Amino acid sequence: MLQKAIEKIDPGVAKIEAGPQETETKHSKRKSEPKFTWCRKHLLGLQDLSREELLHILDTAVGFEEISRRSIKKAPALRGKVMVNLFFEDSTRTRNSFTLAASRLSADVLEFTAKASSVSKGETLRDTARNLEAMGIDIVVIRHSSGGAPHLLSQCIDACVVNAGDGFHEHPTQGLLDIFTIRQLRGDLKGLKVAIVGDITHSRVARSNIWGLHTLGAEVFLVGPATLMPSGVNQLPVSVCHDFDEIIGQMDVLNMLRIQFERIGSPVLPSVREYSRLFGLTVDRMKRAKKDVIVMHPGPINRGLEIDSEVADGPNSTILKQVSNGLAVRMAVLFLVNHAAADKTKRSEATVEMI
Ligand code: NCD
Repeated sequence: MLQKAIEKIDPGVAKIEAGPQETETKHSKRKSEPKFTWCRKHLLGLQDLSREELLHILDTAVGFEEISRRSIKKAPALRGKVMVNLFFEDSTRTRNSFTLAASRLSADVLEFTAKASSVSKGETLRDTARNLEAMGIDIVVIRHSSGGAPHLLSQCIDACVVNAGDGFHEHPTQGLLDIFTIRQLRGDLKGLKVAIVGDITHSRVARSNIWGLHTLGAEVFLVGPATLMPSGVNQLPVSVCHDFDEIIGQMDVLNMLRIQFERIGSPVLPSVREYSRLFGLTVDRMKRAKKDVIVMHPGPINRGLEIDSEVADGPNSTILKQVSNGLAVRMAVLFLVNHAAADKTKRSEATVEMI
């Protein structure tokens, strides 16, 4: 499968990658689909991605999953390339997942932390990135508290830019890994009912999930108090619900979000205990859900607040599976953007030669 995923993009790389066995999963049997070429050198969000593009990343990730099951967990796809983790906000899962994904593909990784850099001396994002670029980096993975920072960066540097979370805007690889996990368990997403529960206003995870799930045909329900729903929610392709118990029994997936207290200025909840009683995924509330409902959370979890420990660690939970899948998804994204960049360079070189 890895061989096939890579062959689709670059037959040359496929030769280097020889070896892995064909693994058929529910969603990997798409042999007769027309050839698709990925051409984006940046991954900034899921809002603009077509169904074909989303499926292409997910199918490519199925191939990369296999590497994690090998005894030697390495492939040479990004050998000689440099990826920098440019993180202006804290992160555990996303940052380490990108680092591991890049090193499994044999890239060199630079770790940048704003607090320990010249940003604390007043350097701008653009200058920081251009200085890093002068060291020959190929891919910048950026997390920033301002929505739009990755877009800005993609306009002022030549390297590929991958958004690892920008403000309340998007977190595309989290959206992809959530969708990958649902697809792994259910196959097609068409018609599935997915509830995203909690602090929607401050959640970039919610936004990426909404766009990706909608494009792939799932029905998205946003659940939470009115004070945690973003303005303009009516323009999103979702249904909004303020009573979790009213809809929980119809849902196929429950994606529970953390309340982002660090981003909340004024009080939006009468009390945390009240929130937990109305919107928390408690053991009692789980009794009203479908037996095989998929319980998700992007982490970090606030146990006992948005989700009870017994549910987070229970049989319906895919929380750790999501983390494992994140690695395959990020390998696929790094691989694809790098190849699109290489193709663009080839094309522009060809144009220069023609002149
Ligand atoms: C999320 C984030 O940073 O947006 N976490 C993550 O990337 N796994 C969600 C959160 O912080 O609540």
